[in-house]
Amino acid sequence: MTKQPINVLGIETSCDETAAAVVDSNYNIISNIIFSQQKLHAPYFGVVPELASRTHYEKIQYVVKKALTKISIKKINLISYTEQPGLKGALLIGKTVAKTLGYLYSIPTIGVNHLWGHIHSVILSYRGKIKFPFVSLIISGGHTELSIVESYTERKVLGQTRDDAVGESFDKIAKLLSFSIKKESKQRKNAKLLSLLKKFTYPGGPVVEKLAKYGDPKAINFPRPYMLDSWDFSFSGIKTAVLYYLNSQKRIQPELVYNICASFQESIIDTLVTKITYAAEKFNCRRIVISGGVSANQYLRKRFMQIAKQKLLEVYFPKKNLFTDNAAMISCAGYHFFTDKC
Ligand code: KG4
Ligand code: ZN
Repeated sequence: MTKQPINVLGIETSCDETAAAVVDSNYNIISNIIFSQQKLHAPYFGVVPELASRTHYEKIQYVVKKALTKISIKKINLISYTEQPGLKGALLIGKTVAKTLGYLYSIPTIGVNHLWGHIHSVILSYRGKIKFPFVSLIISGGHTELSIVESYTERKVLGQTRDDAVGESFDKIAKLLSFSIKKESKQRKNAKLLSLLKKFTYPGGPVVEKLAKYGDPKAINFPRPYMLDSWDFSFSGIKTAVLYYLNSQKRIQPELVYNICASFQESIIDTLVTKITYAAEKFNCRRIVISGGVSANQYLRKRFMQIAKQKLLEVYFPKKNLFTDNAAMISCAGYHFFTDKC
């Protein structure tokens, strides 16, 4: 990193967070503004693309202006925006704003990959101190990816999900449970079930984690899709197993819901811990970097920290405000890709 810092304005609009941030090349976060659209999408239990694009359009000016209150646009040396993957209409808003500002103020712009952004959320959290190579696991609502990261800008992708992403499967289980509780509470007027139903919202990951705390992770033996002959993942089978289990039950009680959440979470986390530690051994890589929204899960963090202690591995997670989608990670990734090209 340079002594004379380069200030990077980051813009993120790939999904349901409208975000802008300024990060300098010494890993100082000058601003990190996130407008979360989650409440808007909650009634639909998922992101509605058109609603997301319209809301980015309405909020982008506000977040960019707010990110630039502590530092003037005249001091910005680079503008980095999420180029892909993501919702097309949503991405277009961020790119248009980045390019327009770049043109008006003669600032270079760079488009970065959102997944690189998640990896850089951890690099930024540890101020560039994590050594290469490391095993990277990205677990978000849209992606599950295992790779070996060789430098700030080079990674070898080993595997991805063949169906649902980890976050997506948490969200779908929450949706499934809420429908079952709704049906049951209509049939039998049960106050406990009705108050439990109120806890279900979008995204479902944090809800499942909260309810899992009251349940027994060993209560139901859901499958563990280790697939150790490939580096890919597959989570749709666990989802189907939960559906069949729910359908086989005569009554839905809160205790059953808690046990399903705990057992489902256990099965996902067992799969991830086994596969990632196996990759670390196979590639002789002691460092593991875990990013994406699901990395906020405290139980997952605990399980990875335990295995790290046993196997003498180092595990790194993003710091607060950097695990779900944000623009600070896009600034950091943009800085490295830009300086790599120069
Ligand atoms: O990285 P992110 O903010 O957006 C994408 O790039 O997709 O990830 C959002 C995902 C959602 O699926 C959400 O349910 C999940 O992260 N998530 C969690 C937790 N917090 C967020 N999943 C499990 N446990 C959590 N505590
Ligand atoms: Zn993301």
